[in-house]
Amino acid sequence: MEKGYKASITGVGSFLPEKVLTNDDLSKMLDTTDEWITKRTGIRERRIVENGVATSDLAVEASLRALEAANVSPTEVDLIITSTVTPDCLFPSTSCYIQEKLGARNAGAFDLLAACSGFVYALSVAKSFVASGAMKTVLVVGAECMSKITDYPDRSTCILFGDGAGAVVVQQGNGRREIVTTHLGSDGSKAELLTIPAGGSKLPASRETVESGSHYIKLRGKEVFKQAIINMVDVIIKAAAANDMQVEDFDMVIPHQSNIRIIEAAMEKLGLPKEKAFININKYGNTSSASIPIAMDEIEKGQMLKPGDTAILVAFGGGLTWGSSVIKW
Ligand code: UT7
Repeated sequence: MEKGYKASITGVGSFLPEKVLTNDDLSKMLDTTDEWITKRTGIRERRIVENGVATSDLAVEASLRALEAANVSPTEVDLIITSTVTPDCLFPSTSCYIQEKLGARNAGAFDLLAACSGFVYALSVAKSFVASGAMKTVLVVGAECMSKITDYPDRSTCILFGDGAGAVVVQQGNGRREIVTTHLGSDGSKAELLTIPAGGSKLPASRETVESGSHYIKLRGKEVFKQAIINMVDVIIKAAAANDMQVEDFDMVIPHQSNIRIIEAAMEKLGLPKEKAFININKYGNTSSASIPIAMDEIEKGQMLKPGDTAILVAFGGGLTWGSSVIKW
């Protein structure tokens, strides 16, 4: 067991834009079908923001809901950590825009980048701040406007992604939703499998990068698919061992929603029934670091876990990165 104070999730919130983009809508725009997308990914529709909406706009709505659920006012927040691959701009951080819009005038603010694993990474940082006693209240946000970095003519990626935001409030333990352990991993040798090549210091934005579409997501789907299964399985086994548990002792697996076939293959390798994995990819697609807090909010609202149940959050994404977090509900 880790030392220090206990860190608990005292409030959860999420926000999804209203506009729905269905598989049938996509099949009118490109050479694809509802049948192919549903069968190969489990996705039926995803939410998309209107023009002019930024990631911080979604994040603020999710954060207000999480703060309300925790009965915490914005001025009580000590730190805001936002995980996103679609920041409002390269700098300042999206967390600073959220801080201003919330009126969280006593909070520090920074963004954290671990792609689709980012929420689990950010939760791990929040837990450490709270468990050490350095902070009392940390707001952890996973928010994405994936539609803004998606190349819609590219049928192999554009069918996957959606927009949305989720947030949690982490405070000293109140006996509910305790963050028991976190495990993080990475493999930068496979960075090129999932990346936006242009717009940073390596390949600054230029007319050429825009013309070649290098400012959009590039995904080597099959290789990422294999790595996702290997590493999600591994980090669940590690978490079980660290908690003197068997993997079957987890009451629910709350995975990053990237592809239903990845989730089902991981469950099969672990010898767990697929019904133990929470799934909502059919409604929202892959919302990157927002997917786990959105799932947690649906689980909380639906009372799908009861006090004392043990859940494991598990994520995988670009970097490559992966991580898990065991939560005693
Ligand atoms: O968030 C974390 C990171 N992301 C992921 O974890 C994503 C991981 N990868 C995947 O989910 C899958 O690899 C994809 C869904 C992206 C692709 O599925 P796949 O089963 O690996 O398909 P594929 O790329 O091997 O393509 C199979 C066929 C190809 O046609 P041919 O060469 O066999 O004739 C593709 O051109 O399917 C074709 N195809 C499509 N057909 C209809 C690819 N995309 C589409 C499409 N509609 N949208």
